[in-house]
Amino acid sequence: MSRDLAEATPAHAEAMAALHASAFPPAERWAAATFATQLALPGVFGALAGAEGMVLARCAADEAEILTLAVVPAARRAGLGAALLRAAEARAQAHGARKMFLEVATGNLAARALYEAAGYTRVGRRPRYYADGSDALVFTRKLTPAAAIAE
Ligand SMILES: CC(C)(COP(=O)(O)OP(=O)(O)OC[C@H]1O[C@@H](n2cnc3c(N)ncnc32)[C@H](O)[C@@H]1OP(=O)(O)O)[C@@H](O)C(=O)NCCC(=O)NCCS
Repeated sequence: MSRDLAEATPAHAEAMAALHASAFPPAERWAAATFATQLALPGVFGALAGAEGMVLARCAADEAEILTLAVVPAARRAGLGAALLRAAEARAQAHGARKMFLEVATGNLAARALYEAAGYTRVGRRPRYYADGSDALVFTRKLTPAAAIAE
């Protein structure tokens, strides 16, 4: 993990919830208890960049998923979202994941642009996935797991 990113633990749950609340509308916010519960589960991991951004992800077998990603408005367009995404990918690769998946709202043009710039391609759509009734687009990117790098 890079010098500026800290690995998330359940002790970071309040800080992660505060970061999430700064980036998502009220109906989509996650409580601190949700972060604490997630981070205690096997395969779940995350990273924080001080009070500026965070990512939470999960690995299962050879697939991984971004659960949430947020950068506070004042810190956006400085490469932090991309850095958090790469950190989650690196961690997933180290655990043997071969693919990363994520969902993004159709209207979330900033996040869609971030994922497309990071090499993700669209592979599906989940109708009315979000609380506001909007659809989710499913994106994926191939990873190179640690075992394959060592081969
Ligand atoms: C999506 C989000 C995490 C991006 O974070 P960020 O730190 O601003 O992203 P970065 O600075 O790393 O952007 C990397 C690239 O993504 C694209 N991008 C990011 N924000 C963009 C925007 N508002 N408009 C167009 N392209 C954008 C650009 O290609 C950008 O590269 P560039 O700045 O050199 O042009 C941030 O906007 C956010 O927290 N949004 C609210 C929460 C959210 O939507 N989370 C994702 C849910 S799926």
